[in-house]
Amino acid sequence: MHHPFGVFFTLSLLFLVSPCSGGNILVYPVDGSHWINMKILVEELHAKGHKMTVIRPSNSWYIKENSPLYTSITIQIKEDFRDVFDLYLEEQIRVQREGASLLSFFRLNNQFLTMLTQAHELWCDIAKDIFENETLVKHLMDSKYDLVLADPVIGAGVILAKYLNVPLVLNVRWVTRGEGHFVLAPSPLSYIPVPGSGLTDKMDFIQRLKNIFFHSVLKFQENMVLPIYDEFCSKYIEGGCSIFSLLQQADIWLFRSDFVFDFPRPTMPNVVYIGGFQCKPAEPLPADLEKFVQSSGEHGVIIMSLGTMVKALPKDVTDEMAAVFSKMPQKVIWRHLGDRPSTLGNNTLIVDWMPQKDLLGHPQVKVFVAHGGTNGVQEAIYHGVPVLGIPLFFDQYDNLLRLQERGAGKIIELSDFSGHTFGEGLQKLLHNSSYRQNIQRLSRLHKDKPMPPMDQAIFWIEYVIRHKGARHLISEAYKMPWYSYHSLDVLLLLLAVLMVLLYSIYAVFRFLCCRRKRKTKPKQN
Ligand SMILES: *[C@@H]1O[C@H](CO)[C@@H](O)[C@H](O)[C@H]1NC(C)=O
Ligand SMILES: *[C@@H]1O[C@H](CO)[C@@H](O)[C@H](O)[C@H]1NC(C)=O
Ligand SMILES: *[C@@H]1O[C@H](CO)[C@@H](O)[C@H](O)[C@H]1NC(C)=O
Repeated sequence: MHHPFGVFFTLSLLFLVSPCSGGNILVYPVDGSHWINMKILVEELHAKGHKMTVIRPSNSWYIKENSPLYTSITIQIKEDFRDVFDLYLEEQIRVQREGASLLSFFRLNNQFLTMLTQAHELWCDIAKDIFENETLVKHLMDSKYDLVLADPVIGAGVILAKYLNVPLVLNVRWVTRGEGHFVLAPSPLSYIPVPGSGLTDKMDFIQRLKNIFFHSVLKFQENMVLPIYDEFCSKYIEGGCSIFSLLQQADIWLFRSDFVFDFPRPTMPNVVYIGGFQCKPAEPLPADLEKFVQSSGEHGVIIMSLGTMVKALPKDVTDEMAAVFSKMPQKVIWRHLGDRPSTLGNNTLIVDWMPQKDLLGHPQVKVFVAHGGTNGVQEAIYHGVPVLGIPLFFDQYDNLLRLQERGAGKIIELSDFSGHTFGEGLQKLLHNSSYRQNIQRLSRLHKDKPMPPMDQAIFWIEYVIRHKGARHLISEAYKMPWYSYHSLDVLLLLLAVLMVLLYSIYAVFRFLCCRRKRKTKPKQN
């Protein structure tokens, strides 16, 4: 069937189905670790020939002003969120080490709420600077973007898309408050654990009670934080809007998760699961690192990283870790930014950056000690390396729990941390092969897909450009009032009809009875 016309036809078809190369995309990212995976998407879109404009604050941590990938729009701001975040982190670690109690739960939650409110206020200020700048707004309008690609942890990108009347694609797992699915899809609390609850999809009665309690706390926090956006909405969007309704009207949700990682749950037609989209096969290590890794021989290598956001753990914790590492026959590569631990052994290499995915893909690497951020957990699944998790904040405990549940990792909480528990955890992961077998199984499942997640992400972005949105995939559910959504009005009517029917039957019987009585009564007299 290698007809020359066939080849010609296929070639011309190739050109025909990719007419949207040269899409014009406005990217509204979130700084920090969220930018890391947004940037990977931006790189891929750039390679496919799309033109991008990225909105960034002037004091951004990671989003560069000048890049060959995009043009940037820089918003001048004065406040620095970094201090707020570092302070929050320090407090988190301190309270967690005191141990779990109801009091510490409320203190941690309160801190989180304070930090969250400050963050949203700051980001709203940035958005205000955009909306109030007439030259900038005119420039954005004139640019005629094909779509807005936003991270909805902050609401500004979502509101901007509405304001510019441009289709919206979300790169999402978290929204302004909580996990994205809870805004979008039916989420029965009987088998869907609320983030932060530390529960799984198998809950007994008490745990379901706890789940509903956590949900209420989250709802309460939502009501504290979201009015910031609703005010903003009513000021700049004609007719006002709520941030929830804007999220629900997003054309496509590129969801940074999948059901190898997360527990099965109901979803919606416009949700595309791209979990692990940032993962790639490992590339060769730099020569000196390769030499160090190879020197580990039969024992292998342990790698440890607590992510990009954490500068340092308390000194006694790092000293304890270094002491445990120093007694092990394995080699250790540790990404560590604080002071050099005094107990450091000569088998431990401290680095301030490491090629994490290339190391995870290296056959000598046996265990990954991690904080449990989404990126790291997805990479561990992709490369099939068991994880010893030390969760610090946000969603990290829940991410690690998903590995622990599948027997692919183990959690050590800060409140339980000691040289003994840490050493024991490492020994288990190194010597009990079930952890490695389980995560390798997850890895095989994760990779067995009709289309790699990155290709899916690009496909759906280009789909939205081609069709100027994907409104046909958006459920009608969001337009319904709550009583119609739950069919309460219908139930009420049915109940009324039933009542009338029952009463009629009762009335007929009563009538018949009475008539008989009336008939029989004279006889007795
Ligand atoms: C408005 O935006 C333009 C273009 O980004 C920028 O040059 C200017 O400084 C901004 N004006 C104010 C008052 O922020
Ligand atoms: C590393 O330290 C151990 C004991 O602390 C020692 O036996 C070994 O020779 C040292 N190795 C190197 C390469 O210095
Ligand atoms: C290995 O770990 C699994 C899961 O924790 C456990 O069920 C199993 O008994 C362990 N095997 C050995 C040999 O310790």
